[in-house]
Amino acid sequence: MQPHTIDVQTESADYRVLVGRGLVREVGARLRSAGIRPRIAAIVCDESVGAGAGSAVEASLASAGIATLRLPMPASEERKTLATVESLCAAMLDVGLDRACAVVAVGGGVVGDVAGFAAATYMRGIACIQVPTTLLAMVDASVGGKTAVNLVRGDGTLAKNMIGSFTQPGMVVCDPEVLATLPARDLRSGLAECVKHALIADPAMLAWIEANADPLHAADPDTLCELVARNVRIKARIVGEDEREAALRAYLNLGHTFAHAIEARMHGAVTHGEAVAIGLVAACAPGEAMGVTDPALRVRTVAVLQRVGLPVTLPRAVRAGELLDAMASDKKKRDGALRFVVPHAAGNVQVEFGVPAALVGRAWAAVGG
Ligand code: GLY
Repeated sequence: MQPHTIDVQTESADYRVLVGRGLVREVGARLRSAGIRPRIAAIVCDESVGAGAGSAVEASLASAGIATLRLPMPASEERKTLATVESLCAAMLDVGLDRACAVVAVGGGVVGDVAGFAAATYMRGIACIQVPTTLLAMVDASVGGKTAVNLVRGDGTLAKNMIGSFTQPGMVVCDPEVLATLPARDLRSGLAECVKHALIADPAMLAWIEANADPLHAADPDTLCELVARNVRIKARIVGEDEREAALRAYLNLGHTFAHAIEARMHGAVTHGEAVAIGLVAACAPGEAMGVTDPALRVRTVAVLQRVGLPVTLPRAVRAGELLDAMASDKKKRDGALRFVVPHAAGNVQVEFGVPAALVGRAWAAVGG
């Protein structure tokens, strides 16, 4: 079967996203037929998936005549730092990687972000090919060119994604067959971003997710192919119109101001996707109080998230004040005011500045805060 092909056209670069079963074994051939022939490909891979997808990508590059260097890295937020980028770049320099070479990122969002940033900055920039291995990375992080590492503050805490760049990849290759080995909880986390995309831009996809909740839950590969392709099309359209998040791309932060506060306060008890799911429910409440969001939207959002196995309330009680404090340090502020993406209806969201604290408190109350 032919892969789904989605062309991303941004101000800085155009590239292709391929979505199809078995593509992980065809990366080398696909690069060659797109005219991308790196002298050496540095495969930066999640050390825990190295034996599977990493080896398949390595073999495909070798059979396309591309020399490879394998650079496994730990895929944790703690190691998503400049120190990791420095050690990757040092290893690339040791084998003589130059601008005729490329980085191939094989892993989830952490690997994609770190490898993408290393590629964006090594010798002032070399090509990066993204081969995401999680649903979250396929439908979100691998497309759109955001690369970043966490900044280690003086007191040892991490400022998330504080150093990075907008640098588009040369190609993105998504093979939903690799998701067969993804833990169910991680698969569900990716589904939260899909529900988010549906709420932002595609009411028909919301209905499609509702209708396909069972095969999605069971990780049916053909259903996942369709899901990834639909989501990449939405992401491609948004980043094509607003590469550097001047306006429209901010919609992708729907639920995320809440999610980041949840992640900061829950200390690893929830995954990013679970936090996003809870954040999507919270995000409906201020709009309801302002009279712009139909209360039926929250009911529908809760139902679809539950159908795909995602949480819709906080796993334990947290003081709303604590969550508000965590929000105050979010980097998505402008002129000191937090910005919220407020859903009005499925497929229609708006950015609101200066939402009163009382309405934010109401949002937290909606998810048990
Ligand atoms: N993950 C949000 C964005 O790519 O803008």
